[in-house]
Amino acid sequence: MVELPEHSDPRGLLTVVEGGKDVDFDIKRAYFIHHVPEKVTRGAHGHRRLRQLIVAMHGSFEVIVDDGFEKERFVLDHPSRGLYVVPMIWRDMVNFTPDAVGLWLVSEPYDESEYYRDYAEFLRDARASR
Ligand code: TYD
Repeated sequence: MVELPEHSDPRGLLTVVEGGKDVDFDIKRAYFIHHVPEKVTRGAHGHRRLRQLIVAMHGSFEVIVDDGFEKERFVLDHPSRGLYVVPMIWRDMVNFTPDAVGLWLVSEPYDESEYYRDYAEFLRDARASR
């Protein structure tokens, strides 16, 4: 988990993410996930090269990360705390509150060939790379 720098004054909070400073990559793409129906699981993929920072801008959701050996669950529920995810991690996103808005800041342009969508293939490569 990454604590993002906050600028607080009587007008509220301003949270900053600067590529190459608060995350160790240049931010090439941003996307948002929102209006997720109850009990839906999103994600179910891994990335070969891509790095990302995931932030719950509003509401909350959980990210279950899996490096092929161990799984860990992180609760994202604050816009100034992000989850930094490196390559070769399978992830599922679950338990979105109805008001949840997730922000993804990503190191690469969108490229479907860079994804693992098949868990068995991910597991084989993740275990072989250790
Ligand atoms: P998907 O990868 O299934 O979302 P999740 O993060 O829940 O796994 O993406 C949903 C759709 O959006 C899919 O058709 C691919 C498309 N998409 C883009 O076109 N550009 C993007 O940058 C992303 C992340 C997804």
